[in-house]
Amino acid sequence: MRSNDDLKALIRTIPDFPKPGIQFRDITTLLLDGPGFAAAVDRLGELAVPLAPQLIVSIEARGFIFGAALAKHLGLGLLPLRKPGKLPGATIGIDYALEYGHDRLEMHEGAVGPEMRVLIVDDLIATGGTALAAVNLLRHAHAHVVGALFAIDLPDLGGAELLRTQGVLTESLFA
Ligand code: PRP
Ligand code: ADE
Repeated sequence: MRSNDDLKALIRTIPDFPKPGIQFRDITTLLLDGPGFAAAVDRLGELAVPLAPQLIVSIEARGFIFGAALAKHLGLGLLPLRKPGKLPGATIGIDYALEYGHDRLEMHEGAVGPEMRVLIVDDLIATGGTALAAVNLLRHAHAHVVGALFAIDLPDLGGAELLRTQGVLTESLFA
């Protein structure tokens, strides 16, 4: 059984990527460690179960890794929110700002039913711009966002607090 500190130590920090001044938290070193990755997904599962989600929603691209693993772990479906121009059907979308740029998230029209209990999963929350965009897009589609889970929180950037001010239960494995 690994401690939370042991798991956190599997994530490395690379300075000045992708721009000067950004301390990039690299999850690939955690993913390479089978028992470590499994333990991280198990712990996300423990946070997810009390929220009784009906569907996992994850965010391109790194979010898909944890979102898909968690959906399988819980026996739930997965809604991938994608970057622009990737989905073949009719889409709805939302623009947002990042710690190091701008982007857009899209989903297929009709992918979630009204009041469906959806749980957002991503690898990391920094400013919260991405996760808040996901929340707003899902609420626009009349889904019920039961929470947002992250492997990593960068609390100095305020994203988790921002989500909480918007009424989203927000938790992470490592801060
Ligand atoms: C990263 C990360 C989150 C987001 C967090 O994704 O995976 O989705 O940034 O930042 P925020 O809280 O400031 O919005 P990125 O857009 O770099 O895309 P990637 O997953 O394709 O690498
Ligand atoms: N996404 C936004 N900020 C990030 C950071 N500092 N490290 C990794 N991914 C990020």
